[in-house]
Amino acid sequence: MRSKKLRWEKEPQRLFEANLEELLDIFLASEFCTSFGARIDTLGREKMARRCSWETYHCFKRILHFLQNPEPRELAKSTLRDVAVWYSCGMLHVWWQDDLPQREGSLVRRILSLAAGGEIISFAGGLPNAKHFPVQEVGEVLAAISQEPPLMRLALQYGETDGYYPLREIIAESYARKDNLPIKPEQVGITTGSQQAIDLLSRVLPRGSVVAVERPTYLAALSALRLGEHDFVEVVLEEEGPEVGSLPERAAAFYAVPNFQNPSGITWSNARREAIARWAHERGALLVEDDPYGEIRFRGDRQRPLAAFAPKHTLLLGSFSKILAPGMRVGWFVAPEGGGRLFEEMRFVKESADLHTSTFAQVVIAEYYRRGFAQAHIEAVARAYGKRAALMRELFHELLPEVRTTDPEGGMFLWAVLPEGMDARELFTIALEEGVAFVPGDVFYASAPERRTLRINFTAEDEGGIEEGVRRLARAYARCLRR
Ligand SMILES: Cc1ncc(COP(=O)(O)O)c(C=O)c1O
Repeated sequence: MRSKKLRWEKEPQRLFEANLEELLDIFLASEFCTSFGARIDTLGREKMARRCSWETYHCFKRILHFLQNPEPRELAKSTLRDVAVWYSCGMLHVWWQDDLPQREGSLVRRILSLAAGGEIISFAGGLPNAKHFPVQEVGEVLAAISQEPPLMRLALQYGETDGYYPLREIIAESYARKDNLPIKPEQVGITTGSQQAIDLLSRVLPRGSVVAVERPTYLAALSALRLGEHDFVEVVLEEEGPEVGSLPERAAAFYAVPNFQNPSGITWSNARREAIARWAHERGALLVEDDPYGEIRFRGDRQRPLAAFAPKHTLLLGSFSKILAPGMRVGWFVAPEGGGRLFEEMRFVKESADLHTSTFAQVVIAEYYRRGFAQAHIEAVARAYGKRAALMRELFHELLPEVRTTDPEGGMFLWAVLPEGMDARELFTIALEEGVAFVPGDVFYASAPERRTLRINFTAEDEGGIEEGVRRLARAYARCLRR
């Protein structure tokens, strides 16, 4: 079985290389493209988005068939629908369209794996900068826990689905202190990253629910909601927040990222928060306030959460990924006031998903907070990101003056819009050749993608990388204009 699998993986690669010219000739024109390098066996995704080699096998089997039986070009094209292959930077790049709903998510993963190659400067990822991880403080916490056998035993044991109670208390207390929100620890459910909370919600909502989303919105939320087979209604996102006039008459929920949104970097004004809260109240809709970036504010004043305007209608999501470290995989949801039923439904689904989030990680985080490390760390991260954001914008103004960008007050991304007639996918292809990556913005739309947009991350690269990356992007832009 194993040797058969290996043959299937090695043989196509050899055939790709032997027939590269022909493949390039046939498929370069396609608009779909990505990279896998040598990592053939991680390409596939089966229906529940788990990695598998079946899709790879399936895809390669079709390609193999074509390579072994050269057919007329048109027939080959229909057999290998939407596959593009090209070779650059010493790597073979392949992009194909499959029928899985999370296609765009896997597209971004492929861009990220390409950017992780080393030579490419990446504005594509959504990664916090690892240089700012509180390595020493977490080390101190681990050493302290190891000296407390009862706590260590608790950390190593199965835990409760709702989460480690002291951590739920810390989260509730933090909302009380920062936002004057009277949240009880019992309203807080710990999740495996805030991504899990979105997934749980997607499963709890009746299949086919109407879910409003910002236009554009967070890609992996679209993926999770697509798996629940919900219908999207897009609400245009303006600089002040969602355009109230484009709110739907009816929706089960409105999923939104009101602070330093991923991907746009936009923060909703208070007036928009009020208006959206009123809409939710009148329509009985659930506001899903996804706020993983709220504490990474480097300018302006902290805004009131939606949960303050509509406490009975807001499911508030948070995460330690951006304020501590994403490898912890710890996030949370705060159920609406009086929302015990929703809490129970989320718990029920979580129980079957993973029983509970890592007790070990929860204990480490709780101890990290208890020792008072968190605030100074968050402030240092926000300061560092603020400098990078300012530098990125400055360089865009200087080197790409025709490209409009948003002006984020926090978070990790800015959003750029190319002049009329340009296409971010085209720019992306040339940018890769120049050695810089970003995420083409069209993947962040639930429908009718806007092709002039791009998401730029300003946290993963250091200042030298940002400077060189924008120079490369400017060269790519100039080449794109000449085409
Ligand atoms: C808007 C938004 N929500 C949720 C997440 C998921 O974060 P995590 O699962 O690491 O908490 C991300 C990650 O980038 C995000 O940008």
